[in-house]
Formats: sequence, C-alpha cells, structure tokens
Amino acid sequence: MVSPLFVANWKMNMLKAEAEAFCKEFRSLLKEFNSREPDVGIAPPLSCFSVVQRAFAEVPGVLVGAQNCHWMPSGAHTGEVSAEMLVDLRADFAIVGHSERRQFYGETDQTVAQRAAAVLAKGMRAIVCVGETQEQFEAGKTKEVVKQQLEGSLAGLADASFERLVLAYEPVWAIGTGLTATPEIAEEVHDFIRDLLLQNFGPEAGERIPIQYGGSTKADNIAGLMAKKNINGALVGGASLKPDSFAALIHKGREAA
Ligand code: PGA
Repeated sequence: MVSPLFVANWKMNMLKAEAEAFCKEFRSLLKEFNSREPDVGIAPPLSCFSVVQRAFAEVPGVLVGAQNCHWMPSGAHTGEVSAEMLVDLRADFAIVGHSERRQFYGETDQTVAQRAAAVLAKGMRAIVCVGETQEQFEAGKTKEVVKQQLEGSLAGLADASFERLVLAYEPVWAIGTGLTATPEIAEEVHDFIRDLLLQNFGPEAGERIPIQYGGSTKADNIAGLMAKKNINGALVGGASLKPDSFAALIHKGREAA
C-alpha cells in the first residue's frame, strides 16, 4: 500500500501572524502526527516559511516545503529560489509544475523536469503536478495531455530519486472552482498514471510513488476520493487555509484510505 500524503498549498496567502495562528490551532486539532511516515505537509509562501517550520520543529510528522524551486544553485534569476537555498531553510519538499506556474508563468515540461531533478538531487521530496485544462478535458484529451506532461516532467530523473517522488494529478478545471472530479473520473486518470509509472520506471518505483489528487478537495469529498486504490492523498489549496477545514479533510482522508 502507498502511504498517503495530504499537503497544504497556501499559494500567495497568509501573513506571518496568520500563519502563526493557523499552526497553533492546527497542532491542537490534528489528533495524531505520524512520525514514522509523515502524512501531512504544508507549503507556505517563503515569507512565512520559518514561522511554519518553527511551529512544527518538534513534530516530525509534518513536512514543510516550498511552492517552487529553480534548477541552478545560484545566479542571476530574479524572483527564484534554489534547491541549495531550500536545503539551507531545511525544507522537506518542493512542489514543481503546478498548473498556475505552467499557465501563467511559462513553465514547460522541460523546466519542470529540471526543477524536479534539482529538488530530488538535494534529498528533498518533489511533488510534480500534472493536469489537463477544461478545454482538453472536454475534447477527451485528458490521458494524452497527462502522459505528455508526466513523461516530459520526469525526463532524465535518476532511478534513485523515485523514493522521494510524489505525483499530483490536478485537473485545471477543478482547481479553485468548487468542481471536484468525481472519484471515478479521478481514479481513471490515477490508474492511467500508475500504469505509466510502472511502464516507464519499473515495478519497484512505479508501485510506491504516491499519486495525490488536487482540485477543490475538502472534508466533504475527500473520503470518496481516498477510497480509490490509486488516490494516495491530496494537494489542497482553498481548504488548507483554515486549520479546521484542513484538519477535518486529513481526518476524513485518513479514515477512508
Ligand atoms: P484548490 O487548489 O484545492 O483550491 O482547488 C488545489 C491546488 O491548486 O493545488
């Protein structure tokens, strides 16, 4: 069985004081922290990274990560952060290839692959996001798009990295819209992704890589999704901004896994 992972993607939200208040309440709401196989992660904006990290320093069950990572160690790359810098912050993971980065900031499969490789090479987990737009979904191109993104975004990664690789399937039409993919629609794509992972990276790695679902997940719809074999957690935007809704989603998701 693949260990599930529920990750908060705060995007460009939360001031330091808000993050501090969130962490305090979230710690008391989350009944259990699984320190052997952490199943919770938070990706705050870098401006409140240390606030979140400090709050969970004594809680090995909660991973703290970044929302992106550049492939170069340093240099003239205004607005970017490197894997070296994330290690310096003691980040556990970085999200790469989120659809907002792909849609609005020019990320391509090639740059996503470079970013993922840098994150993994530095010993962090990389959450690599893929997902089709509404237009592509309606044109029946979901699998074609997901295959191309997945193979392109994982191109050239060393076999050894797969231990720390996480995939996130996030249909663009479901992100922040309140429209979640039904568990059946999501599982069909997750099953397809599992097959691609098995074909491309072998049975060992292919079986163990968690595949998160993302797109308007909340406490009310997570159980149906998590009951599916190849849905191994969630990348959560809106519902992760309030401690009670994120904790409730995790409790329901764990129960259903
Ligand atoms: P959402 O965002 O849960 O608000 O739809 C998910 C994501 O963008 O990762």
